Amino acid sequence: MTKHQKPIDPALIEAINGPKDVAKTGKRCLMNRRQFLLTSGITTFTVMVALKAGPSSAKVPAVVSTYERKLIGKLSELKEDEPLDFTYPDDGAYSESMLVKLGREAGGGIGPNKDVVAFNYTCTHQGGPLQGTYKSEDKVLGPCPLHLTTFDLTRHGIFISGQAYQSLPQVLLELDGDDIYAVGMFGLIYGRYDNLKG
Ligand code: FES
Repeated sequence: MTKHQKPIDPALIEAINGPKDVAKTGKRCLMNRRQFLLTSGITTFTVMVALKAGPSSAKVPAVVSTYERKLIGKLSELKEDEPLDFTYPDDGAYSESMLVKLGREAGGGIGPNKDVVAFNYTCTHQGGPLQGTYKSEDKVLGPCPLHLTTFDLTRHGIFISGQAYQSLPQVLLELDGDDIYAVGMFGLIYGRYDNLKG
């Protein structure tokens, strides 16, 4: 845990796991030293994440870090399947990310249909650029131009083919009226030993 531990916002947990898991995951969980070193942010905690949307899907533990809020878009201005680029959690290397309205419910999705998600653009295998690879028909990023990994944006960026063995880092979102804020990361950005330190 970090020195600056703050209470976990139940709304954030609900956005990740769905309403039924708020009570279950509201407590902080133990994490190992490596997970701590990789994810130390303003607040770090462990949640159980569904691998696909829906009540009956399998869940796995995941470490989440929250950082400063950054306004990245307006819900009313998003068009389905038209990604919007932004940088997070800073403007440094590998911070390029995308916000997209999938038109299909997704893990961690916000908005009335829980279909607005955001992901880092850098492939977790060897840093291949995923810009321009969004496929609206399958709601995926990829295949990566280097070794063809493809990531499922409806299931927290899990890899579904290719060489990578880590999910694509998901940017955690909060909706405040019509404003969409980036508030944290789920996963480690490629090329960084800490998401806040390149
Ligand atoms: S860098 Fe993307 S699959 Fe290897």
